[in-house]
This record gives sequence, structure tokens and C-alpha cells, in this order.
Amino acid sequence: MLSVILAFFVLILATYFLWNSRKRQQRDGEPNIVPYSIPYLGRAINFYKDPVKFLKECEEKYGSVFTLFMGGQYFTFVTDPFVQHIIVKEKKVLRFRNCLPPVLKHAFDYYPTAVDDEMMKLTHHYFQGKPLGLLVKQMNRNIQKWILDGNQGDAGDKWETVGLLSLVQRVMGSASFVSLFGENPKASDTLDVQRQLLNFLTVFPSLLRGLPLSLITRSREYRQDLWKSLTKSKVTKRKEIFPIIDEIVTLHEQNGENKLLPKRLLPVLVASQVNTNPSSFWILYYLLKNSEALAAVKDEMEKVLQERSKNPGNNFVCFTKEEMETMTTLDTESAINESLRLSISGGMLRKAATEYRLEIPDYGQTYTIRENDMVLVWTQVNQMDPEIFEEPEVFKYDRFLNEDGSLKTNFYKDGKLVKYAFQPFGDGSSKCPGRYWAVLELKQLVVNMLLYYDIKLIDSQEIKMDKGRVGLGALNPTKDALMSIRRK
Ligand code: HEM
Repeated sequence: MLSVILAFFVLILATYFLWNSRKRQQRDGEPNIVPYSIPYLGRAINFYKDPVKFLKECEEKYGSVFTLFMGGQYFTFVTDPFVQHIIVKEKKVLRFRNCLPPVLKHAFDYYPTAVDDEMMKLTHHYFQGKPLGLLVKQMNRNIQKWILDGNQGDAGDKWETVGLLSLVQRVMGSASFVSLFGENPKASDTLDVQRQLLNFLTVFPSLLRGLPLSLITRSREYRQDLWKSLTKSKVTKRKEIFPIIDEIVTLHEQNGENKLLPKRLLPVLVASQVNTNPSSFWILYYLLKNSEALAAVKDEMEKVLQERSKNPGNNFVCFTKEEMETMTTLDTESAINESLRLSISGGMLRKAATEYRLEIPDYGQTYTIRENDMVLVWTQVNQMDPEIFEEPEVFKYDRFLNEDGSLKTNFYKDGKLVKYAFQPFGDGSSKCPGRYWAVLELKQLVVNMLLYYDIKLIDSQEIKMDKGRVGLGALNPTKDALMSIRRK
């Protein structure tokens, strides 16, 4: 028996040494490889524990362009804020879309085709300009409906205790779903889909990180549930669908791909909520924690309200897209930006389609990046850089305001403009097409909650950010924040 155990250990050791001796060696002109000794995982544990701290440590030791092995992949990070634009501008060799096929296959069970390119065009068309005005109107109506229609119980104007996260998931999630996918006359439909989506979002980070489905409990089941809710017959039954969904249905019919419709609609549904729900939590949480910020936002809201009269005979105040946009230059947008700065963890990912030479003329440096390696501009490092944002851990609602009250978009380090100081929506080929809607819906939530409710946080305890979604966008809170809420 002892000899079997011994032989087993010898085999393991031999395999490890073989793997170690065959590890990639840095060639001349390539970025430094951060040493690693764990097969497959590489330095993933250090990275996901605290990416900003770990990347800063790597930068100090290996320079501002270095390669990390994580999860079986090589990622070259470019942490110098004055070099990052070279990566984002380069579109021929460093491609965002090349990163997608394995992710889409693993998380959503399909490979992208020309239909996905068409869908992307539709997304860019419908989430800005005139069509966005329609969506904003729908969204406002739906937020109000979900806020007011007894969703806080039957307490009426009595104080009630509610979890902030569960409230925003219910209100924002349901309002966003109905605004995009329409409303089924059967009232439970929206809540069913929302429950299914929240289930799926618990396994989504593991899917994105490539963990085998068999290791992610119930991932198949959660996905199946949503596919069933997104079939053509289900989708077309819903009323007041945002036209992009109609167009996506038609696109699938024209291409004879009806079967793939639920699979392609799922990423749209996920993208529309996965970042917005936690971002909704954080903006309200920070405002409720910070009385000065709350007063500034309320003041701004009052000004907009004074400028207009309420719709006659209508209980609802409907802020238009234009009115929401007048709030962009003042406190509300600054506060939203600040909460995104603190809660978004991620960067811009690209894959080298061929070998790439990163030339940095200002420093007289050139690096060679191998074909199929990933390149990452981790913008969270800039967001949390004390030389760009003083006291970066602190929520300062007016950080994004210039002295004249206009929105501040330029931030500097060593007196030089940092292009990607704050980039919650990515840039270049991976820029989020839903970014205008996202900011407007966060404003709508804040405005409507403050308009119709008195709210105060019960627990003064700080809520921390959960690391489970590091690198994937908005971080969730580690726990819900209890608040007292009363209809005005
Ligand atoms: C606070 C809210 C949001 C944040 C922070 C956010 C952020 C981002 C980021 C950073 C990306 C690029 C992904 C990457 O580089 O890997 C992205 C992509 C995307 N976002 Fe958003 N997003 C938000 C809300 C929305 C909303 C409301 C929609 C509406 C449908 C949306 C639709 C999309 C889509 C479709 C993509 C994929 C784009 C592509 O494949 O080129 N996002 N988002």
C-alpha cells in the first residue's frame, strides 16, 4: 500500500516538474512574465483577491507592461495610464470581438455568426438618439409602476423596513425587463423571469471564468429556465415590446434561426441588468449615507420640477430624457459617476489576432505580444489611483464637477491628462452600447425614489463590496442594507 502511495506522489511530482520545465519562457522583446508556480490557476488567486493592489505590486517589480498567467491564459497588462490609449486605439490586431466566441459558447451555448453583428448594429441604433427617448419614457413609467404598485407591501404611508438591494433588484430589474421585453398580461410572468435571471446571475461569474458547467451547481437548469421564457411564442405574447426586440425576432425569422432566438436574447437580458442592478444599489446607498450629497441631488431635482408642471390628472411625474439630461451637468450625474468609480471593477480586454508589436515612442520601448495572448487595460487601477483621484476610497459626490458646476471629464496625473481615468463603460471596440440608457435609468431610479419616498438607512455599518465579480463590472454588496421607507 505504502509503495502505491509513494508511486502516486512520485508521479505527481514528476508531472509537476515536467509542467514547470515546459512553462512558457520569456523571449527577447516580450514583457516580463510574473513568476507563477500553480498549474492552470497561475496568479489568479492573488489577482482576484485585490486586483488593484496586486497589479500595483507587479508594476513596481516588473514595469508597466507585464504578463500574468491566470486560468490557463496569458494576459499582458498595460498599467501606465499614458500608454493605454495605444492598446485601445489598435483595432486591427488587438480585437475585442475575438475574445467573445469561447465565452458565448460556454456561458450562452452558441457561437456568434453574422446575425450577432446585425444585432450589435441594432443595439447601437436603439440605445441612443430618438429610440432611446422612447425607452426612457417606458422605463420611467415602469419604475414608477414597480415603486408605487404596492411593491413595498401595504404599509401605505407607514414606515416599513426593506432591504435596499432586494428593492432595487425588484424595481429596476422588473422595470428594465418590461421596458425592453414588454409585459405579459399574466402578472406573474415578469416576476418569474426576474427570479430566473437573479438565479442565473449567481452562476454567471463562474461561467464567464470558464469553470466547467458540471462544477457550477444548477447552471444548466438556470439557463434552461430563461431560455424557456425567451422563446418566440413567449416573447411575441408580451405587450409594448421595445422595437429592438421585434427586430431581433424578425432577424432570426429571416435567417431561419428561430431556435437560437432564446440563446441570443439571454445575453441581451443579462447585459441590460447585470451591471445596472448593483449600480442602482450603490448610488442609493452612497446618497443615503451622505447627507450633503443627498441634499444636493434633491435640490437639483426640485429645480427641474419647478421648471415644469405636473401632468394634469396624472399622479405620475414623468421626467423626459431631455429633463434627465439637464441633470447631467449638475450633482446627480457626478454622484452617479462617483458611485460607478468606486464599484466598477474591470477593464478593456483585447485578444491579439496575430503577433503584435506594442511601440511606445515616448519611452523608446517596444514589446512583442504573442498571437492569441490577451491584453488588458485595467481601468480600475486608474479609478483608484490617489494621484488621479485624491482619497480614492472616499465617496465625494461632487468629484465629477468643475467649479462652474459643469461635468468634469478631464483628470490628470503628474499634470498630464489621463485618457482612461474613469471608463466604466469601456472604450473603442468594447464600448458599452447601453451606456446612455444605463446612466439615465440610474437617474430615474434616484429621482423617483426620492420623489415618492422618505428613506433612511437603518444600519450605519459600512457595506463592503463582494469580490465575486472582480473584473466583470459592477461589484455586488456583500450583504443587503436595511432601510426604513415611507410613502410621502
Ligand atoms: C451601469 C451599467 C452598465 C455598465 C457599467 C456597463 C458596462 C459595460 C462594459 C464595460 C462593457 C464592455 C465589456 C467588455 O469590455 O468586456 C459593456 C458591454 C455591453 N453592454 Fe453594458 N454596461 C451597463 C449597462 C448596460 C445596459 C443597460 C445595456 C442595455 C442592453 C448594456 C448593453 C451592453 C452590451 C450589449 C454590451 C456588449 C457590447 C459588445 O459586445 O460589443 N449595458 N457594458
